[in-house]
Amino acid sequence: MRSKPGGKIDEAFDVQNEALSEALRLLSDQGVVNPVAALSLLPSSLPEAGAGERELLPRLATLVLGGAQRLDDPLSFAHMDPPTPWLTWAMTLWNARLNQNLLHPATAPAARIIEARTVAWLAPFFGMDGGHMVPGSTVANLTALWAARELRGIDEVVAADTAHVSVEKSARLLGLRFRPLPTDDQGRLLPETAVGLDRACLVLVAGSTSTGVIDPLHLAGSAAWTHVDAAWAGPLRLSDKYAGRLDGIEHADSVAVSAHKWLFQPKESALVFFRNTATAHAALSFGGAYLAAPNIGLLGSHGATAVPLFALLWAWGRDGLASRLDHCIATSEKFAAFVAADERLELLAQPETGVVVWRPCGEPIQDFYVALPAGLSSRTTVAGSEWLRCVAANPTVDVDSVIDAILNAFRLA
Ligand SMILES: Cc1ncc(COP(=O)(O)O)c(C=O)c1O
Repeated sequence: MRSKPGGKIDEAFDVQNEALSEALRLLSDQGVVNPVAALSLLPSSLPEAGAGERELLPRLATLVLGGAQRLDDPLSFAHMDPPTPWLTWAMTLWNARLNQNLLHPATAPAARIIEARTVAWLAPFFGMDGGHMVPGSTVANLTALWAARELRGIDEVVAADTAHVSVEKSARLLGLRFRPLPTDDQGRLLPETAVGLDRACLVLVAGSTSTGVIDPLHLAGSAAWTHVDAAWAGPLRLSDKYAGRLDGIEHADSVAVSAHKWLFQPKESALVFFRNTATAHAALSFGGAYLAAPNIGLLGSHGATAVPLFALLWAWGRDGLASRLDHCIATSEKFAAFVAADERLELLAQPETGVVVWRPCGEPIQDFYVALPAGLSSRTTVAGSEWLRCVAANPTVDVDSVIDAILNAFRLA
């Protein structure tokens, strides 16, 4: 038991098994999702007197659990955000309890090694020799471009005009010019336009945000530095069946992969890999004063996000992960086949990495979209035209129910 400043016991810092069990019970008893009711509970200003931990739990459940979309719903097919397996929840809870800071070896002796081991497990699938964890591929892209600027003196970032916003954002932050290249009607970079790359970092996207297409990866190695943004589709490298779709990635200098997408991790979890990690890390390394180990990359204090990833990879094995990814691809193909066969619907193209872009023929997208259940589909613009987008991030999606909901939307729209 810890004591409060006034001398009383402060149980807030002790393991409260009963309270934690109650929090878990509320988690499984999720109830009906009702964001409007949930938000009505929000205090408008900081309460002067505390509501008390135990007393607050039911209200927090209504607000936080009741106010959230369920990513494991059988109809959840709209975004690149997967549901997370329970093992990752347990590891995240342990992380919160320990609150280690990986900046300091003294506070995280094992966790630093767990991160290094996790990175070492994954890097070879991309032809890379190491890297480190970051909170998202936005930061992974920025870190990689930063290394490119330090090591190769690039003055320009070149990428498809459909590349994720983080690429142009990173160029601006680093004081580099951004040159967008034209793309085909699905958003793939046109290879013949990738010229004049002697002082450029060429960013190739493996699994574009809107349509899931893969840029021509044979271009890797044709610029002063090549970075592959594999935020979405990178994990396919672990699938025997689909790894070949990303062939060429091994010639890149750096690769970004979001673990909170197709590695089924809680946010914020991603990796930046380098072909030559010692050189890249040396260029991004700062030290001195109170630091017992060099501070590498963008982050200062950071937590043990590798722990849930390491745990899941260990629990599932490569094979367990690959079978879930293969299943996700199969769901996207089944859905695309339904769209292609229904003459009232239009399919942009066969999905390359589980992203299905489709729309009702001749209907206004808006009316049809609002008639769909929330979380079934998102909206996107491809070559100036509006489409709907479904993403196979949820291994528990039920394509038959998705199809029923779409047929029902035709009746409602
Ligand atoms: C292709 C691509 N790159 C980068 C990002 C940014 O990744 P994050 O959201 O992990 O920062 C995304 C996010 O959707 C993406 O689709």
